[in-house]
Amino acid sequence: MGKVYVFDHPLIQHKLTFIRDKETGTKEFRELVDEVATLMAFEITRDLPLEDIDVETPVSKAKAKTLAGKKLGIVPILRAGLGMVDGILKLIPAAKVGHVGLYRDPETLKPIEYYVKLPSDVEERDFILVDPMLATGGSAVEAINSLKKRGAVNIKFMCLVACPEGVDAIKEAHPDVDIFIAALDEKLNEKGYIVPGLGDAGDRLYGTK
Ligand code: PRP
Ligand code: URA
Repeated sequence: MGKVYVFDHPLIQHKLTFIRDKETGTKEFRELVDEVATLMAFEITRDLPLEDIDVETPVSKAKAKTLAGKKLGIVPILRAGLGMVDGILKLIPAAKVGHVGLYRDPETLKPIEYYVKLPSDVEERDFILVDPMLATGGSAVEAINSLKKRGAVNIKFMCLVACPEGVDAIKEAHPDVDIFIAALDEKLNEKGYIVPGLGDAGDRLYGTK
C-alpha cells in the first residue's frame, strides 16, 4: 500500500499559512508556491541513490558521493501544477518535464483530459506528479492512469493541500503510489473544494476567476 508523507518542516508550514491566506495576492501566492515546491523537492529526493567517487580537494584526495544519475521526470497537472515546476527544477535541473492537462467538470467534478505530453523514455524514468490540490482525487487518479498507460512504472504524487477523500481515492486506485503533502485538511465541501484549503489554486496562481 502506498504511504502518505506529510511534510511538517516549519518553513513549509509557515509559507503554507500565507498561501492559504485570502489576502495574499497573485504575485506573492505564486512566489510562495514556488518556494514551497523547492522545499518539498528537497524532502522528496531524500531517497535518491548515491554512488562513490574520488575527488581531489585543495588539501587531499577524498572519497565522496555523487547522485547515481537516476532519470527523473516531473509532470505537472495543468494548469495549477505548473506553479510548482520551476521550484522543483531549482534542485533537480536535469529532470525532464512532461505535462498532463486536466480540468474538473464544474457539475460532475469528473476530470476531463485535454493534453498529454511525456518524455519519450517514459519507461526508464521515475516520475513526480505535481498539483497543488488533491480534492476528490479524480484528477490525480486520472493523471496517474495516463502516465501508466504510456509506460510509467515508478510514480510519486506531490501536492500542497490534500483531504482524506483524495488520499483514499489514490490509495484505492493506485496503491503503488506514495503521496507527499504539506497539509492534510479536514474535508471537501459540497462544491468539491477543500476545507479550509486555499481556494481555487489555478485562479489564485494566475489571477483568473
Ligand atoms: C484543480 C486542481 C486539481 C484539481 C483537484 O484543478 O489544480 O487539478 O482541481 O481536484 P480533484 O482532486 O477533485 O480532481 P482544476 O480542475 O480547477 O483545473 P485548473 O488547474 O485548470 O484550474
Ligand atoms: N481544486 C482547487 O483548486 N481547490 C480546491 O479546493 C479543490 C479543487
